[in-house]
Amino acid sequence: MTALGWRGFERVGEKEVRAIRVHEFGAPEVMLLEEMQDLHPGAKQVVVRVKAAGVNPTDTYTRSGMSRKPPLPYTPGIDAAGVVESVGEGITGVKVGARVYTSGTITGAYAEQALCEEYQVHPLPEKISFAQGAAINIPYATAYRALFQRAKSIPGEMVLVHGATGGVGIAAVQLARAAGMKVIGTGGTERGRTLVIEQGAHHVLDHRAPNYLDQIQALTQGHGVDVVLEMLANMNLDMDLKVLAMGGRVVVIGSRGRIEIDPRDTMTRDASILGMLLFNTPPQEASSIHAALRAGLENGTLRPVIGKEMPLAEAPRAHREIMDPGAYGKIILIP
Ligand SMILES: NC(=O)c1ccc[n+]([C@@H]2O[C@H](COP(=O)([O-])OP(=O)(O)OC[C@H]3O[C@@H](n4cnc5c(N)ncnc54)[C@H](OP(=O)(O)O)[C@@H]3O)[C@@H](O)[C@H]2O)c1
Repeated sequence: MTALGWRGFERVGEKEVRAIRVHEFGAPEVMLLEEMQDLHPGAKQVVVRVKAAGVNPTDTYTRSGMSRKPPLPYTPGIDAAGVVESVGEGITGVKVGARVYTSGTITGAYAEQALCEEYQVHPLPEKISFAQGAAINIPYATAYRALFQRAKSIPGEMVLVHGATGGVGIAAVQLARAAGMKVIGTGGTERGRTLVIEQGAHHVLDHRAPNYLDQIQALTQGHGVDVVLEMLANMNLDMDLKVLAMGGRVVVIGSRGRIEIDPRDTMTRDASILGMLLFNTPPQEASSIHAALRAGLENGTLRPVIGKEMPLAEAPRAHREIMDPGAYGKIILIP
């Protein structure tokens, strides 16, 4: 079988490896586990033997055909962790046998092997497991970019992580706490809220309770929050603006629909609404993010939390469950 991956890469190997393949956009069941020929790196490329793949909401948007559409068939997934199996000509910074996590791949992460560009592989510290490694890239890079590159948060500021129980939220709680911020997180379940406190939030609120944001005034001694990291802006943006401090910033990370706001809420506080999409990060800022994440992983302030591990064949279940309420860290696929 000659199978073409993203960008028309041709698999030329003789051994078989398993990969999830999508031949048509649609429901989770369009993801099928198939045998494919193994991968060989071209110049400046790296093949990673995948030990764990991270499941992110964006993988579901791509699979369903509602966002960017890769040429079919394709293998889903952006985040993986594993061991470098082979390197192509011209690779000097990555050695065969090195433990790595990925920030994107050429051929897809939901597979036993992934072909990457050199800039897409990053060293994985020994104390971080492969499952945790697969939980680094999108969640932590997004949280870091939102907090520090978009909102320009500084120590001593108050941040509301609005949706703190999932991949990005837990990362944001750990990053903000390590940076000396006061952290308020929200979660929809008791179990999730307990996790948010365990991960370093000073306070936690229930985003399913009526008028829960009324507590922000008391929790911030009337100051309001300086920064909101918003996971569901279509539900919350109007309320976020009302709990902001003077000069406050809301970073829109997730949104699944439309919402009406009162623009006066931004005027009275000199407030800013900042959008972000991780894929828009310029290369230099991306390498700065990964340098910061590496430091945090090494010094123990960043500890990815794995809620569920599933075999690769259960990718359809993973896609259903990541869209269900009741997040608890990350969902990981194990090839
Ligand atoms: N802009 C970007 O570049 C970027 C990057 C990564 C992710 N995202 C988006 O950001 C969102 C979060 O990603 P993720 O990986 O953390 O997903 P996830 O692991 O599935 O977590 C979803 C989070 O949203 C929370 N949530 C549910 N209802 C909420 C509400 N009414 N108010 C506030 N939060 C609520 C969940 O809390 P409970 O389950 O406890 O209710 C959970 O904490 C997704 O929409 C994703 O597509 C965007």
